[in-house]
Amino acid sequence: MSESDRPVIVVGGGLAGLAASARIAESGHRVRLFSVVPVKRSHSVCAQGGINATNPIAEQQGFSAWKHMDETLYGGDFLAHQPPVREMCRHAPRIIHLLDRMGVPFNRTAEGNYDLRAFGGSLFKRTHFAGSTTGQQLMYALDEQVRRHEAAGMVEKYEFWDFLRPVLDDDGRCRGIVAENMDSMEIRAFPADAVVLATGGCGAIFGRSTNSLICNGAAAARAYRHGATLGNPEFIQVHPTSIPGQDKNRLMSEAARGEGGRVWVPRDPGDGRDPRSIPEAERWYFLEERYPAYGNLVPRDIASREIFDVCRSGYGVGGARMVYLDVTHLPQETKDKLRGILEIYQKFTGEDPTEVPIKIFPTVHYTMGGLWTGYEPAEDGEGLAQGAPGNMMTDVPGLYAFGEVNYQYHGATRLGANALLNCIFDGLYCGLSVAREAERVGGELGEPAEETLRAAADAERERARAMLAREAGENPYALHEEMGEWMTDECTVVREEKGLERARDALRDLKERAARAAPPDASGWSNQSLSFTRALEDMIRYAEAIVAASIERRESRGSHYRTDYPERDDERYLQTTVATYDSQADEPRIGFEAIRMGLVEPRARTYGKKAASGSGESGKSSGGGS
Ligand code: FUM
Repeated sequence: MSESDRPVIVVGGGLAGLAASARIAESGHRVRLFSVVPVKRSHSVCAQGGINATNPIAEQQGFSAWKHMDETLYGGDFLAHQPPVREMCRHAPRIIHLLDRMGVPFNRTAEGNYDLRAFGGSLFKRTHFAGSTTGQQLMYALDEQVRRHEAAGMVEKYEFWDFLRPVLDDDGRCRGIVAENMDSMEIRAFPADAVVLATGGCGAIFGRSTNSLICNGAAAARAYRHGATLGNPEFIQVHPTSIPGQDKNRLMSEAARGEGGRVWVPRDPGDGRDPRSIPEAERWYFLEERYPAYGNLVPRDIASREIFDVCRSGYGVGGARMVYLDVTHLPQETKDKLRGILEIYQKFTGEDPTEVPIKIFPTVHYTMGGLWTGYEPAEDGEGLAQGAPGNMMTDVPGLYAFGEVNYQYHGATRLGANALLNCIFDGLYCGLSVAREAERVGGELGEPAEETLRAAADAERERARAMLAREAGENPYALHEEMGEWMTDECTVVREEKGLERARDALRDLKERAARAAPPDASGWSNQSLSFTRALEDMIRYAEAIVAASIERRESRGSHYRTDYPERDDERYLQTTVATYDSQADEPRIGFEAIRMGLVEPRARTYGKKAASGSGESGKSSGGGS
C-alpha cells in the first residue's frame, strides 16, 4: 500500500485499462479510472476472433509458448524487442485460465477442452475464442472484477471524462492528469503518483477504419506533445477483411478465414454472374494459390497487399475495390461459431452471408506503434523482471502506456488475436510494476505542488476558451475528413516518397487551418464539437509523426510497404523508430534506436510465397516483400 493516499490514475476503460485497474486495486492501491465512454462501450468490446495462447492440445500438434513467441516475432518482421514478447507468450496460458475462472464462456470441444481455431500467421490452431464476440466476453468478465473493487471503494470511475494532458513537475515526472468532464465541461487536475494510459489506437486519423470513433489517438498525441516519445509510429495495420460503411468500416473477423472461409474473385474480371453460379474452376483463390502453406491465413499486411494488387489489376468484383470472402460452404456448426459477425454483415448490408459471399476490402484496423515504453529484462535475459517499475513506463517517469497505445510486442505487423493478449498481459503483469512505482513515489515524494496542478488545468481551460472564441473558422469535421483521405491514400497499404511528401505538406496546411477551426457548437454543456476540435489538433500532430517516420524508413517491413524501397534493409533499419515532438518548430523529429534481440535470429519473412503465377494474366504481386 502506498504511503500516500493518492489513487493511481488509469485512463482508458478497455481491456488494458480494466485489467490494470483490477491488478492495481488488488495490490492495495486505490484507482481512479477515466474513460471517454462508459467502460463497457470501450473499443475492446469490438474484438471478435479470439486470444492466442498455447495449451496442452496445441502442444500435441507441436505448438509451444516458444513457438508462439517465434511466430509473433516473425509476423512482426523482427522489429519487436524480444524479452517482452517472450514474457507475454509465456504468460498467455495462465491468462486464459484466469479468464476462464472469471467466467468467460470460451468455446469448448465435446471432450470439454478449450476449442481452438486457426488464425493468421500460424500453421497451428492456438486461438481461444468465445464465438465471434471474444472481446465482448472478456470485457464483461473484467468489468465485473473492476465492479467488485469499485464496491469495495478501491476503484472510482470517471466515465465521460476526456484526458487532456499529463501534469509534469519541474523534474519532468508525471504527477497527475488534467481531464475534462464531457457533460459539464468542467476541467480539473487530478494528482497521482503513477498514471497509466490505456487509450487504444489511432484509427480515426485515417478517417474510416474498423476502430470506434473514439479511437483517435488524441490521448497519445497529448502525451507526445508533453514530452513522451512515440515508438514505430509508421506501423499501422490494415485488416484485409472489412465491410465499407458511410460512417465507419466494420470488421469481418479473421475468424471467418480461420474457420475455413475462402477469399476469391472471378477469374474473368468481366464475369458479372451471381457468385453462387460461378463454378469452382472459374474462381481465383489468389491467396491459396500464392501462399500454399498459409493460404487465406497469411498475416494481415500480406493479405491486404494481395487484395489491393488484385483489385488494382482489374480483378475486383464488378471492377470495384472488393473481393469475396466466402463462408457459404461451411457446415452449420461452424457458421454458428461465426454467428456474431455474420449477423453484423446481414444487419449492415441486408445480405445473408450464409447464402451469398461476403464482399470485403482492407481497412485500417490496428496501431502497432504508439507511446514508446521501456522494460526491465529478467536476469536470465529471456523475459521481464516481474514487478520492476520500469516495465512499460514511457520516457516520462511515472507515466505508463498499456495495451494498443503501447508500441511493444508486435513490431511491424501484429498477428491476429495477439491484441487481446497484449492488453490483458500489460494490465495484469505490468499493473504490478505500476503499483510498485506508486509505492516508491508515494514514499519518497510529497504531494505534487498545488501550483503545478493549477497551472496545467489553467492552460487547458485557456485552450478551450480560445477555441470557443474563434469566429466562423472552418468546420473541424470537414478538416478531419480531408486528413483521413490524405492518410488513407498515401500512408496505408502502399507508400512511396513523393506521396508521403505530399501528405506531409497537406498536414502542415491542415494544421494551420485547424488552428482557426471553430467548434460548430458553442454550448457550455456536453459540447462534443469542442472535444472534437481539440482532438483534431492533436490527431494532426500524431499524423505528422506517422508520415515523417514513414518517409524516414526507406525500406519495406511488415505493414510498412514502400514501392520505392521494396526490400527489407536490416543493416539500416532493424531499429525502432523514435519520434519526439519539437515544440518550438511544432514538428516531429525522427531517430532510430537499437532493438533487443537474443532469442530468435531474424530471417526472411516469406510465408512460403510461391513465384507469382497470377490468375492467368496478372503475374505481379506485392505481397511477401521482405
Ligand atoms: O479479425 C479479428 O477477429 C481481429 C482480431 C484481432 O485484431 O486480434
